[in-house]
Amino acid sequence: MSRLTRKITGSDLILFNVTFDMAILVCGATGFIGSHFCVLALQQGLDLLLLDNLENSSPKVLNAIREVTGISPRFVEVDIRDKSSLDAVFATNQVDSVVHFAGYKAVGESAAEPLRYYRNNVDGSLNLLESMKEHGVRKLVFSSSATVYGVPEFNPYTEEHRKRPFNPYGQTKSVVEDMMYDLCASDPQYALVALRYFNPIGAHPSGMLGEDPKGIPNNLMPFITKVAVGQLAELGVFGDDYDTVDGTGVRDYIHVMDLAYGHIRALQYLNSNAGYQAINLGAGRGYSVLELVSAFERINGVSIPYVIKPRRDGDLAAYWADASKAERLLGWKTQLGIDEMVRDAWAWQSANPNGYN
Ligand SMILES: NC(=O)c1ccc[n+]([C@@H]2O[C@H](COP(=O)([O-])OP(=O)(O)OC[C@H]3O[C@@H](n4cnc5c(N)ncnc54)[C@H](O)[C@@H]3O)[C@@H](O)[C@H]2O)c1
Repeated sequence: MSRLTRKITGSDLILFNVTFDMAILVCGATGFIGSHFCVLALQQGLDLLLLDNLENSSPKVLNAIREVTGISPRFVEVDIRDKSSLDAVFATNQVDSVVHFAGYKAVGESAAEPLRYYRNNVDGSLNLLESMKEHGVRKLVFSSSATVYGVPEFNPYTEEHRKRPFNPYGQTKSVVEDMMYDLCASDPQYALVALRYFNPIGAHPSGMLGEDPKGIPNNLMPFITKVAVGQLAELGVFGDDYDTVDGTGVRDYIHVMDLAYGHIRALQYLNSNAGYQAINLGAGRGYSVLELVSAFERINGVSIPYVIKPRRDGDLAAYWADASKAERLLGWKTQLGIDEMVRDAWAWQSANPNGYN
C-alpha cells in the first residue's frame, strides 16, 4: 500500500510515500494539531478541504500553511454545530473520508461549563456522523484523548484499559467513541478510528506554525514558552511530592509532527480495513515536568524560573501510553524525541512571540 521513503522538506520525519487517493475533509483544520496535519498531508499530495469555525484559531494559519507547503489550501468557515451548513459542504464537495479535530479541549473549562462541551464535542460530532451517513461517507479519523482512561488501574495504559473519564471533557470524547463503535456495529462498511492522543507538544520545525492558546495557557509547554519569551514571570509547577523520579507529574509527550503523521497512517489503515479501532498515539515513555523544563533549558539556552505550588485537584501522578497497537496496526511509532519537541516549540514561540497576531 505504501513504500519507503522520502524526506519531506521542513520535516525531520521519515515518511512513507502516500499511494492512496482520497478527498479528505479536515474539521478543526486551523487549530494546533489540525494545521500540522494539513501541512504534512498537503506535502504528501493528499487532497484536502479544510473546515473550521475559527473560534479557537486564526485565519492567518491558512497563510502559514500556504507558505510552508507552497499550496493554497481550500477552506470553508463552517461550524459543525450547524447541520445544514455541514450538509452543504458534503453536498457540494467530493468527500471520501473525514479527519475530525474540531472541538473544545480544556479540562478545567469543561468542568465549569459542561453543557457547552457536550453541545460542541458531542452534538457537533453527531452532526458530522449524520452528514457523513447521509452522503455515503464511512471513513473517519477522530481526535480522542488519553483522558478517556481516567485514573490508571495499570500503567502504561493499553487500549483495553477501562474507560472511566473523570471530567466532562473526557466524557465527551468517550461518548463520541461509543457512537463510532455503535455505528460500526450497525453497518460493516464503516471504517472509524479513534486516536487517543497523549500530550502533543512542539511545533513545525520551520517555526512558522505552532500552538497559539488564547489567554493564560492551560498546558505545560505553551506556559514554558511564554515564560521563556518574557510574557509570564515564572512557571507554576503543581506538586513536587508525587511518587515519581523527582516528585513532579510524569506525562507522555509526543511531537505534534509525529502525531500528525499518525493520522496519515490511520487514513491509510482505514482505506483497507473496516470496523472500529481505538488506538493510542503516544511515545510510550514519560517525562516529568522538571525533566521537560531542564531539556528546554539545555537545548535552547534559555532559563525557566519556576515555583512549586500545591497539587491541583484531579491531576494524576504519572501515566504514559502503551503504543504497541499503533505500531502493529498502523506501522507507526514516534520518531522525534524530547530534544526536537523543546527545540521546535521554542523556534515557533521565539519567532512569533504573539503567536499568529
Ligand atoms: N492539544 C491537546 O493536548 C489534545 C490532547 C488530546 C486530544 N486533543 C483533541 O484534539 C483536537 C484538536 O486539538 P487542538 O489542540 O488542535 O485544539 P485547537 O483548539 O487548537 O483546535 C481545534 C479547532 O477546532 C475548531 N473548532 C472548535 N469547535 C468547532 C466547531 N463547532 N465547528 C468548527 N470548528 C470548530 C477551533 O476553532 C480550532 O481551530 C481536539 O478535539 C482536542 O480535544 C487535543
